[in-house]
Amino acid sequence: MDFKVADLSLAAFGRKEITLAEHEMPGLMSIRAEYADAQPLAGARITGSLHMTVQTAVLIETLVALGADVRWASCNIFSTQDHAAAAIAVGPNGTPEDPQGVPVFAWKGETLEEYWWCTEQALTWPNTPTGGPNMILDDGGDATLLVHKGVEFEKAGAAPDPSTADSEEYAYILTLLNRTLGESPQKWTQLASEIRGVTEETTTGVHRLYEMMSEGTLLFPAINVNDAVTKSKFDNKYGCRHSLIDGINRATDVLIGGKTAVVFGYGDVGKGCAESLRGQGARVIVTEIDPICALQAAMDGYQVATLDDVVSSADIFITTTGNKDIIMAADMAKMKHQAIVGNIGHFDNEIDMAGLAKIEGIVKDEVKPQVHTWKFPDGKVLIVLSEGRLLNLGNATGHPSFVMSNSFADQTLAQIELFTKPAEYPTGVYVLPKHLDEKVARLHLDALGVRLTTLRPEQAAYIGVDVAGPYKPDHYRY
Ligand code: NAI
Repeated sequence: MDFKVADLSLAAFGRKEITLAEHEMPGLMSIRAEYADAQPLAGARITGSLHMTVQTAVLIETLVALGADVRWASCNIFSTQDHAAAAIAVGPNGTPEDPQGVPVFAWKGETLEEYWWCTEQALTWPNTPTGGPNMILDDGGDATLLVHKGVEFEKAGAAPDPSTADSEEYAYILTLLNRTLGESPQKWTQLASEIRGVTEETTTGVHRLYEMMSEGTLLFPAINVNDAVTKSKFDNKYGCRHSLIDGINRATDVLIGGKTAVVFGYGDVGKGCAESLRGQGARVIVTEIDPICALQAAMDGYQVATLDDVVSSADIFITTTGNKDIIMAADMAKMKHQAIVGNIGHFDNEIDMAGLAKIEGIVKDEVKPQVHTWKFPDGKVLIVLSEGRLLNLGNATGHPSFVMSNSFADQTLAQIELFTKPAEYPTGVYVLPKHLDEKVARLHLDALGVRLTTLRPEQAAYIGVDVAGPYKPDHYRY
């Protein structure tokens, strides 16, 4: 078995945490039990590109329990939990000397070049008809992007030129594609031809899929898992409510109460972040570009301001927008001594790290991995978390199991949908059918002692729904 992780001797610790997580992931575990005999994913070769955490380990082992073969990479250079990766490589029946688990290519602190190598390994399936997967499970869209870029360059028949790349990261992608074009000129085209679909985890990846669909370049069907209600209204909100302050605390141990915190963006992630900071006693200020979200923030009791209004007085700055260039170097120059700057959005382009590094005379120092001080020439110091990458996974362990049980139950059902019903999903982007969304919520009620009221038939008829659901029209917003 081929794989690359940091340290296989961490597998026993990883296995203990996986066992604890299984109890906290009732949705995923009941899906495992429900489909154990049917094996709906038998024949599926799933390439996963998603944070290699303990919770993801439970997802991977669920996919395997449903019949799939799986290869995995993380979708961020800092988010892997090395003990989880080791346990997945070793597998429940293997040992570090005789690993028998799933080929996983992930460790905490990859370089960008290693990151794209890992993604390529997860997409490369030795001894299979196309040398690739027939399903992708993506978070942020990087695995999907690599396949699409590969096909694009193979179609054009032109070797990509890394010197034309607009970022260091894109230069690595072009270098990789340059090599594969030389080694196997139809690698990605061949591989894409057998992919039945992708299920995408997050807002930013979904955004990329809709863009490709409107440009007419999307190569296979996709399920937008993010916009399942049981995903974005839970993971993005309550998950970040938990893991944002976990990241800030583990990184800095600064008392949040009494401080002024600025949350950029009041979407699902921003709402959870603002609530978590307020819960710690911070005075929270929100920035928004969307009048609806700005009004929501105001009615939730937050001051809504612009960065310029508060840049020199606030203590903690957290970007949650999924947009780029939110905090620029010039803004950081105006912040006060020992202000904390971090991002929880998917990509690292919300904070202008390149611009910060270019300030003349600035000195970067590592306090500990993923926590750096940046000392300005005038002596002022900023604390930057996870080098501008998502801090809840870089500085802490991401969302807790219970909330990820919802997201990953959605993911598993989406994989089953696309893999078993290809005729129902021609190339396009779909959301999970509402009855499955409701099913995922239902699977989590017992664990919390929730007693649901059952509709009486005449009540169901009166509001125009079936007694068994779905209970809301598709346009309902929750
Ligand atoms: P969303 O679209 O619900 O919210 C983003 C908000 O930012 C929107 O309300 C938008 O109007 C606002 N915004 C955009 N540009 C802005 C600007 N220049 N200034 C101020 N506000 C601005 O998206 P969601 O679901 O909240 O996700 C945000 C990001 O977080 C995405 O990149 C997503 O992929 C990522 N994410 C990260 C997670 C994590 O665990 N770290 C979990 C879930 C999502």
